[in-house]
Amino acid sequence: MKALLKSLISPPFHHVWWALKNRQRDHRVESWSVSRKARIGFRSIIRKGVEAGPGLELGDFSYISGPGTYVEAAQIGRFCSIARGTVIGVSGKDMRRVTTSNFPTSPAYGGLAKATRLPPQKPATVIGHDVWIGVNAVIMRGVTVGHGAVIGANAVVARDVPPYAVVGGNPARHIRDRFPPEQVAALLRIRWWDWDVATLAEREAEFLDTAAFVTRYDPGPTAPAQPASPEGDNYGQ
Ligand SMILES: CC(C)(COP(=O)(O)OP(=O)(O)OC[C@H]1O[C@@H](n2cnc3c(N)ncnc32)[C@H](O)[C@@H]1OP(=O)(O)O)[C@@H](O)C(=O)NCCC(=O)NCCS
Repeated sequence: MKALLKSLISPPFHHVWWALKNRQRDHRVESWSVSRKARIGFRSIIRKGVEAGPGLELGDFSYISGPGTYVEAAQIGRFCSIARGTVIGVSGKDMRRVTTSNFPTSPAYGGLAKATRLPPQKPATVIGHDVWIGVNAVIMRGVTVGHGAVIGANAVVARDVPPYAVVGGNPARHIRDRFPPEQVAALLRIRWWDWDVATLAEREAEFLDTAAFVTRYDPGPTAPAQPASPEGDNYGQ
């Protein structure tokens, strides 16, 4: 009875909750299947048909398309483009046990276990800023995808991806780099994804010419090294 009530009440409640949060925080969650604990950044979009767990952190100005997209646990940077059908950060099972079935670890599966004993998980997947993920890609848990990388359609990413690399296939292999090494280094120093909204708006036309952009904004190789993980997003919380 409790489960039936929950299944009737939960979807409209979820819908209203996200509709209110969208207004409050200036983002657009169109799916009812995004955990209320997920942290969604400023002006980010989550389209219909995306399912996401409480471990999702989506940076400002990023979008995730559906249908068929599932994000279990991932820290995703700003200005990322994630296509439909992608699966990110799914958990694994402890393969050293007699069985990979959940029956000995959770009473919810078969009703035999006395207590839930969840195995330790790999850390959440980390996806940098300005990453483009093609349709139906699978990015395993614990993997780090560098800033500016591109994941090809249907790739299965089981190892870390360097910044600005283009990878594809199963397992994903390096196809090429988006830019020559000196431009990659310059973009990682510039960190345009940290610029405030007014600066981005003022300079938006300059994003169309990479050579001119790095010449103009590169602070030079003596600038301090920057960490590779996204931080400081405006989740409005
Ligand atoms: C990965 C990708 C960005 C590469 O684009 P590209 O650099 O123009 O690629 P090319 O067509 O020049 O192909 C370069 C090489 O990569 C291979 N390749 C291209 N896409 C691939 C993919 N998804 N998986 C595996 N290999 C791929 C090509 O076969 C080619 O190999 P070869 O040099 O041995 O012949 C692109 O193919 C892709 O998958 N885009 C995603 C599209 C998408 O999902 N859009 C969703 C809506 S935004």
